[in-house]
This record gives sequence, C-alpha cells and structure tokens, in this order.
Amino acid sequence: MTDLRLAQRTLTLKPSQIREVAEAGMNIDGITPLWFGESAWPTPKLGVDAAINALNNADHFYQPNSGKATFRQAICDYQQSLHDYEFNPNRITVTASGMQGLALVAQALITNGDKVLAIEPTWPNVIEAFRISGAEVTTQNLEVKNGKWSLDLNRFIAALTPEIKAVVINSPHNPTGWTMPEADMKTIFNHCQKLGIWIVADDVYARLYKHGKSAPSFLKWASDQDRVISINSFSKAWSMTGWRLGWICAPKALEQTLAMLTEFNIAGPAGFIQQAGATMLAQGEPEIAKLTKCLNAGYAIAEAKLKAMQGVDFIEPDGAFYCFFKVAGMTDSLTTAKNLLSTAKVGTAPGAAFGTSGQGYLRICYAQPPEILSDALDKLAAGLAKAKV
Ligand SMILES: Cc1ncc(COP(=O)(O)O)c(C=O)c1O
Repeated sequence: MTDLRLAQRTLTLKPSQIREVAEAGMNIDGITPLWFGESAWPTPKLGVDAAINALNNADHFYQPNSGKATFRQAICDYQQSLHDYEFNPNRITVTASGMQGLALVAQALITNGDKVLAIEPTWPNVIEAFRISGAEVTTQNLEVKNGKWSLDLNRFIAALTPEIKAVVINSPHNPTGWTMPEADMKTIFNHCQKLGIWIVADDVYARLYKHGKSAPSFLKWASDQDRVISINSFSKAWSMTGWRLGWICAPKALEQTLAMLTEFNIAGPAGFIQQAGATMLAQGEPEIAKLTKCLNAGYAIAEAKLKAMQGVDFIEPDGAFYCFFKVAGMTDSLTTAKNLLSTAKVGTAPGAAFGTSGQGYLRICYAQPPEILSDALDKLAAGLAKAKV
C-alpha cells in the first residue's frame, strides 16, 4: 500500500520525544526512569482495596455516560472542600484520564481552523489533542525572571484576541512547575469572559503545589454559566497513572454534549475504577499528605544536586513534581537525553519535546525514593560532565 488513505489529521501528528527517549531506555537494564510524570510509589492500598471490593461485588457493567452519580457527587464534595462553594454534579463528567478529558473538551469546542492559545514550553499532548480536532494552536512563552518562571501578563492578554476560541492553561505547569498567580488568573478570567474565550484549565497538578493545600484555580470564580472548563486527573496526587481516571468540570450547558462524546469515544471508565476514585476522594487526604512529604524530600534532593551541577542552571518551580533545567552548551536535548541512557543510566525528558523554547533544557521527575533519586542525579552529573552536549 503506497497510500494508506488515512485522515489528513493523522499525517501531521508529531511523535512525543519524551516517549522516544523512554521507549529507547525501557529496553536497557538498570535505568532510573525520571522521564515520565509519574511517582515511583504504587497507588495507596485504600484505592486498590476499593477496586477489589467493587470487582467482588460485580461492578462489571456499563456505566452512565457522565459517570456514576455517587462518584460525580464525591467529585463535587471534593471540589467544594477546596473552593468553598457547592458544585452541581451536572457540571461533572467522569473521564478515562486527564488526557481523555483534554481530548473530549477539544472535540466539544473545536471546529476546523479554530484558534487556540497555549503556553510554551508545553506538554506536547495538549497541543496534539487540540490539533487532532482541527485547531490551529499558537503559543506564548514563559520566560525566566530572577531565577523563576514567569508569564508576561500584558503580552498574554494582548494575545487573547476575539479570534481565539480557547486558551489552555496548565497550572501548576508541566514541565516548568510554574504556577499562575491568583491575581493573574482573575485578570485572564475577566478578559476571557468579556470576549467569549473558553478557558481550558488543565488542573492535573492542582494538589502538587509547594506552598499550600491546593494551587490557585479558575474554579474559584467560574460559575456554571462561565466559559471555564477544568480538567483533572487521578494520575498525579493519587498515584493512579495506570488506572486512567479523571474528570471534567464544565458549565452545565455542556453536560449532554460531553455525555455523548464520552459514549461515542469510550462509554466511560470501568465502574470498579470509578469506585476506587470515589474512595480516594472521600478518604485519601492522608495519602496525599504522605505523597506530599515524599515529594518535598525528593525536591530538596533535586534542588541541592542540580544547583551543585556544573553547567546546570536551576530554575525554581512552584508546583508539580518536575525540575526543568538549562544545560550550558546543549543544543540538541533529544540526543543528549538519549546519550544519557547509556552514559548515566538515567532517563530524562528532552526539553525540545516541550516546544522550540524548551531546547537546551532537560526535565526530570523527582518523585522517587531519596536513595534512588540521589544516586540517579549523581550519575546524571557525571554523564553531563562527560558528554559533549
Ligand atoms: C499537563 C498535563 N495534563 C494532563 C496530563 C494527563 O494525565 P493523565 O492522562 O495520566 O490523567 C498530564 C500527564 O502527564 C500532564 O502533564
């Protein structure tokens, strides 16, 4: 077959360079994987037991399109505990991961040629999910100011013109850990509501925030009439990457659209997985507290080791569980990351995976036990020192 006659949209898909490095490294013995956004610790027993119970109780059947009613209510209760107001379950759609949440929202909002604004560096999947739906995605760059990532609010507002259909804001941010200040969110919220621009808030790292219980969120102001959609996931704060579970909080007018899109894509996550999610929300706060302690320990190690590394420019994150650092003289982060697999036995994510502004950077996820992380970072230091980056 010379012409597969595939959909045009598939021909412009770009493979993820994070995956490219990881796939190369997964076959090599003894690699410490710091490439994905995934903690080393398995899902707390609380969630596993809830799923097993549900399986033993024959929770084996098709589910309501928007998710179990009890689970949607548990999500509302959880959100209320963070944002201090009541959410109606008709705003909640249960999804099979944050990634699927992004894809469903893109399907719901985007008509071919619609313009979407995102922030670079950016997790590439966000852009691809919107491009698959036909969006033209442009980006505004974060910049480093006084050793921290920052977004020029005036420049960003100027880019949010009436032609923009939606803006995707991931805060706390992958890969930089930058977190949008609440005052900036309020300004963007007001501006977007005035112009009718959808805010798609990728909140999957909301609970991995260094300075508090939960990062600032657009949900603080978004009523069920506002053009704000929050996407969340069980992958990060509840250590459930492999379960594929998340949710969307949207204006109630989207309930039926998202229900149909869910049905026609996947017909929802498995019931026993939803039960595990509901249990984690209701009883999992001590587990998040334990994870936070582990992440704080990992961060302290990463900060100390990266700051001490020759040629590494450490930039302080506010949240998530990454360090995104500049390596002096590195012009091809993909090749460097691939070389580090053999020279250092450490798996990193190449900065170029997050857009051209990420070139020259590497990302590590520090959600690892102290000894393993410490050893991996020592090897990384040696590998970078040896490498002709
Ligand atoms: C910014 C961002 N959004 C969404 C996701 C989706 O996570 P999941 O599909 O595992 O729920 C990730 C995962 O790494 C992410 O980094």
